[in-house]
Amino acid sequence: MSVRRLSYPALAVISAIALVSLYLLAPRGDGVPVPLGRVRASRPKLTDDIYNNTLGFEKILVIGLPSRTDRRDGMVLGAALSTLEIEFVDGVRGGDVPDKAIPTGPGTERLPDAVVGSWRAHVNAIQEVVRRNLSSALIMEDDADWDVRLRSQLYDFALAAHALTQPLPGSSDAAPRYADPTFPDPTNGPSAVPDIAFDRLPATIAPAESPYGDRWDVLWLGHCGMRLPFADGGPIAVPKGRVVRAGDATVPQHQHLWTISDPDDLKAQYGNHTRVVAHHAQDGVCSLAYAVTRRGARKLLHELGLKAMAAAFDIELRWFCEGGGNPARGGSSNHRHSCLTTQPSLFGIHLPAGPKKSNSDISDHGEGSQDAATRGIRYSVRMNADALVEGRPDELVDQWPDADP
Ligand SMILES: *[C@@H]1O[C@H](CO)[C@@H](O)[C@H](O)[C@H]1NC(C)=O
Ligand SMILES: *[C@@H]1O[C@H](CO)[C@@H](O)[C@H](O)[C@H]1NC(C)=O
Ligand SMILES: *[C@@H]1O[C@H](CO)[C@@H](O)[C@H](O)[C@H]1NC(C)=O
Repeated sequence: MSVRRLSYPALAVISAIALVSLYLLAPRGDGVPVPLGRVRASRPKLTDDIYNNTLGFEKILVIGLPSRTDRRDGMVLGAALSTLEIEFVDGVRGGDVPDKAIPTGPGTERLPDAVVGSWRAHVNAIQEVVRRNLSSALIMEDDADWDVRLRSQLYDFALAAHALTQPLPGSSDAAPRYADPTFPDPTNGPSAVPDIAFDRLPATIAPAESPYGDRWDVLWLGHCGMRLPFADGGPIAVPKGRVVRAGDATVPQHQHLWTISDPDDLKAQYGNHTRVVAHHAQDGVCSLAYAVTRRGARKLLHELGLKAMAAAFDIELRWFCEGGGNPARGGSSNHRHSCLTTQPSLFGIHLPAGPKKSNSDISDHGEGSQDAATRGIRYSVRMNADALVEGRPDELVDQWPDADP
């Protein structure tokens, strides 16, 4: 029985209206001018591809059940308003996945259908990246929302990613050196590394394969919370480097930040409007949006597609990023996978107005109704669809404004 179907590419419609948002999203048109200090002589040209229609990835794949036409409508419109080209990968109902198709191991049992369906949909998207030999892809769930400034946010994320994972100029291919001495081998460096300030990024060798750098497997860009690398090493060995940007206007003040991570490292360690780019450390949850490279997709298909399924997809992704420490697979973490992330998340779950039970086909969101909202995203595309569709950029609303001083 076939459980995988891929719809034909749903291309974002470029209309006169989209041109307005193109203007809004252009490097100098989004209210976040590039400070002069950051323009380096070696500014990598490839990185400019982040401003293209697939955000510098080869493709953007969106996962969702075809029956949730409401969500497809929302995603297609959001993508059109942001000039994004997307393709849908059909979600899967867990009940349609036969037992035989689920890899098992000692002590694993079939998980609830909703978890199985979500796992299969994500693995289908990853399988698609491997089958089509895509150099990279951004994989999103169909309720994801983002800021109208997404491209400049991703551009800045890429510069931070270069600082953490691209070699320093002058170091040899055979023995590359990095600004973060704990990269790529976290067990082989100082126990703590100082924060790297975003406005004083080290010069690095420009990437050749991806605008985001040449040494990553996963960019976990849309999540519901995770820890920051532990200064003292902590239980999980991941590189400890962090790029810290104070005064990021796209980051809401603390009272508007939401995470299910406890403790909330970002709030506990940094002030308002601070963004941190680092390696995934621990406790990542929600696979709302993440990018994979060709190599990363192959590793994920191997680890999450073919080895015993012991938990929901996002937990498995967390184990993958932590080195493959899935207890059902022997628990050892001998592998080193390079997963970069940013806090706060660049994508948020959009909750439309209406009954709470429409929020998920997976989990119970309770009774009653809600107003539309996207947590943590200031100039949300979906919350501003009225102004964007009508071509009134001056009417965009900050959903999470600063408190009066
Ligand atoms: C965007 O840039 C990436 C990276 O260079 C490339 O693979 C992709 O094909 C580009 N997308 C479009 C629509 O031009
Ligand atoms: C996948 O792409 C890589 C890089 O372009 C290429 O070397 C390889 O031959 C491709 N593999 C297949 C099966 O097409
Ligand atoms: C963040 O801003 C809020 C609102 O102005 C303020 O109450 C709070 O003390 C600030 N937090 C920090 C850590 O500065």
